[in-house]
Amino acid sequence: MALGSDGARPGHKVTVPDIRAAKGAGTRLVAVTAYDFTMARLVDQAGVDILLVGDSLGMVVQGLESTLPVTLDEMCYHGRAVARAKPRAHLVGDMPFMSYQSSTARAVASAGRLIKEGAFESVKLEGGEEIAERVSAITRLGIPVMGHVGLQAQSLHAYGGFKVQGRSPESAAKIVASAKALENAGVYAIVVEAVPGDVAGEVTRAVNVPTIGIGAGAQCDGQVLVCTDLLGMSQGYLPKFVKRYAELGTEATDAVRRYATEVRSGAFPGVEHTYKGGEPRSGSSGAER
Ligand code: KIV
Repeated sequence: MALGSDGARPGHKVTVPDIRAAKGAGTRLVAVTAYDFTMARLVDQAGVDILLVGDSLGMVVQGLESTLPVTLDEMCYHGRAVARAKPRAHLVGDMPFMSYQSSTARAVASAGRLIKEGAFESVKLEGGEEIAERVSAITRLGIPVMGHVGLQAQSLHAYGGFKVQGRSPESAAKIVASAKALENAGVYAIVVEAVPGDVAGEVTRAVNVPTIGIGAGAQCDGQVLVCTDLLGMSQGYLPKFVKRYAELGTEATDAVRRYATEVRSGAFPGVEHTYKGGEPRSGSSGAER
């Protein structure tokens, strides 16, 4: 078993069967988003089980107001960057808006591109019964699929905003039915987003694949957070479910402010940062050290 607290087997690559096997095994899955090489390396070194290149990159990286404009090419670009970190964690990539909704053929082609061009190990898509056929077609080709129920950010306009789902009995029942349909279609795990804790618990008990919650309480088989939220780099509105484990945003701004002060005063660069000649070595910028 590759999973476990603090990355119990640091060298062992986390696989889809490992993630499936976590269901009922008493191990909670740990998932975090990452969008580039540096963040992927830092997050993976913490021993997480799943790295998700979410289409949330539209908001986190591109400064957009929603995930809707994110393209398949952009997902592939970020996937390749994250894959270069050679993560021990399983690497999942989101299928962006309109890369799978219009037809099964389109869904299969898009999933294939994410694997071939994005270097992903599995794909995630939003939806329930209405996309079950797409999920079956993709999984039949040997591409593992992670489902996503509850709040589906790609349906933002249908909801009238980013709204908690499953608050009425009808809506809760639909989410449970969606999860079951996805399980029957062959998903290996399901993200459950922004639903009341008891609804997430019902979903978790209803399916035999792990559920991974975000804003869905403690009854899921695992949790996922957006890296910049948990590291305290996000600014402005933060949903109730986010816990900030650090304040790297403030630290980053303070560090740059100190740098600016030293550049302006002449304190930086010092002699220790100035070439004397001899002993050329390659540093992170590719320059001599
Ligand atoms: O895009 C994303 O980051 C996601 C998470 C919210 C699960 O789908």
